[in-house]
Amino acid sequence: MPAVTFVSTNPGKFREVRDVLVPFGVETRWERRSLPEPQADELSEVVDAKLDAVRDLRGYVLVEDSGLFIPSLKGFPGVYSAHFLSLWGFEPILELLRRRDRHAFFRTVAGVRFGPDRWQFVGQVRGSIAREPAGRNGFGYDPIFVPEGWHRTFAEAPTEAKNAISHRAQAVRKVGAWFAKRSGASGRKPPIGGSHHPSTSR
Ligand code: IMP
Repeated sequence: MPAVTFVSTNPGKFREVRDVLVPFGVETRWERRSLPEPQADELSEVVDAKLDAVRDLRGYVLVEDSGLFIPSLKGFPGVYSAHFLSLWGFEPILELLRRRDRHAFFRTVAGVRFGPDRWQFVGQVRGSIAREPAGRNGFGYDPIFVPEGWHRTFAEAPTEAKNAISHRAQAVRKVGAWFAKRSGASGRKPPIGGSHHPSTSR
């Protein structure tokens, strides 16, 4: 069974990643480690920096970075999602959106490293920003995010419902499918300098 080490300080993310990878026959181990999050314009740059910081770990290593993007705010808070939320909370976003389009999306970039080789996988979920926060489940921006086709926020839904469609689950499912394909390829070694950018997810 292939194994991957997921590096993060967040136990909730570890459980989500582990559960998503089980059906692909991938075992997930957890390395609880805080990774650098440099200021960058793209999630993929942050993921690259995280992959640099795990070069000491052996075998397959998995990291990820996520953000909430609001097109009518020129993509804000985006790569600044964590920092903004901890400083200001939801209120400024709700205020700014009173007279703007409320569409938004969450995006995750998952990065896999194996020795010098690295790959990235993108997952995304579209939705809109609620007029006010609702629900107590989940974390981060879940109380203000209503996925497309839903009438409630992520935070009002059970964890399994969120995990069935979440940006993170979608990115990690791509990692799982990739692993399944590789382990079916009769033990071939990873290609040098491999890279994977699924066209359907952007
Ligand atoms: P990071 O990937 O942990 O750096 O997440 C960046 C920011 O996006 C954090 O503030 C999280 O709260 C937010 N975020 C990431 N994923 C989710 C999610 O699934 N729901 C709500 N907020 C999220």
